[in-house]
Amino acid sequence: MKSVEIISMGRYVPERIVTNNDLAKIVDTSDEWITTRTGIKERRIAADEEKTSDMAIKASQEAIIRGQFDPQEIDLIIVATTTADSAFPAMACLVQQAIGAKKAATFDIAAACSGFLYALTTAKQFLVSGMYKNALVVAADKMSKVMDWNDRATCVLFGDGAAAYLIQTTDKPNVGIVSDFMLGLGEYSDYMQIIAEEIKPLEQKNIMVRNPYVVMKGPELFKVAVNSMAEAVDIAAKKAGITLDQIACVIPHQANDRIIQAVAKKLGAPKEKVFVNIEKYGNMSAASVAIALYEAVESGAVKKGDYVALVVFGAGLVSAANIIKW
Ligand code: UT7
Repeated sequence: MKSVEIISMGRYVPERIVTNNDLAKIVDTSDEWITTRTGIKERRIAADEEKTSDMAIKASQEAIIRGQFDPQEIDLIIVATTTADSAFPAMACLVQQAIGAKKAATFDIAAACSGFLYALTTAKQFLVSGMYKNALVVAADKMSKVMDWNDRATCVLFGDGAAAYLIQTTDKPNVGIVSDFMLGLGEYSDYMQIIAEEIKPLEQKNIMVRNPYVVMKGPELFKVAVNSMAEAVDIAAKKAGITLDQIACVIPHQANDRIIQAVAKKLGAPKEKVFVNIEKYGNMSAASVAIALYEAVESGAVKKGDYVALVVFGAGLVSAANIIKW
């Protein structure tokens, strides 16, 4: 069977840095609470006019330049997002237009914080089947636009960002994305939602619509997250035919450092094998694990030939894991 390798990557985060102390000026919170309960110190927040697609395009452009890749060779573009500029067109079409990938098929995937791995695994199937040779997989979320900025329990947790990966088939056996696991847990769908609210004072003609925003059952989500991520890595490792101690680096979804440490403990993974960048960005939903992989490679935490475990969970609930031989 053909293998699928990552051949290039790109990343983008907005310029504006918002610290915990900045947030303490708008909601009743503190740097001490946010740091000890989540590990987050700051996050990037996009400018009002900066759209999710702008971030997706910048990350994609970097992946193309770094890979010195001709966009005309891209057969498929999948964007993982739950904060698209609008319900349609698909963000993948906007990326296609911006990078000039005229021959690509384009669609989006909505799997919340698990979106990047859902998109990666989906794209991989098109490549393994022989239908396509090259795909661009993008994860982009502007969580700041779906925050309730009066709710201290959610608004301190999230940030904005994007990352993009070019993937390609190769005849080399057992390299690249060596195993995949995805699972839906629909019974927990009310643990995290984006809700839209209509306020109807007296008469229909006075309807006021509030922007959709995130609501979350944090402590409940915490427990399912730990169990489902640990289980996902275990299953993906077994599917890859490797033991947990052969994994050089675990890169988990960056929702809460306490969740990450609990997953690491369940897996028996020492601290130095677990990549964490949550302190700089908070939770960027689909983009979190995608940016973390980029930074793990750039920092030398992931080296050529290493087995890497990517693992995520998110609203749905949905979880996923991939083992990659880098
Ligand atoms: O990608 C998936 C996204 N979401 C998650 O993964 C979230 C998973 N859950 C979590 O990360 C944690 O549950 C949270 C960080 C959301 C909350 O931490 P916690 O330790 O579970 O706190 P809690 O919700 O049990 O709240 C403890 C206290 C409460 O006060 P009382 O009732 O004990 O007086 C909250 O009102 O902390 C209060 N609190 C805050 N205090 C200061 C909640 N948010 C804040 C805040 N600043 N920002």
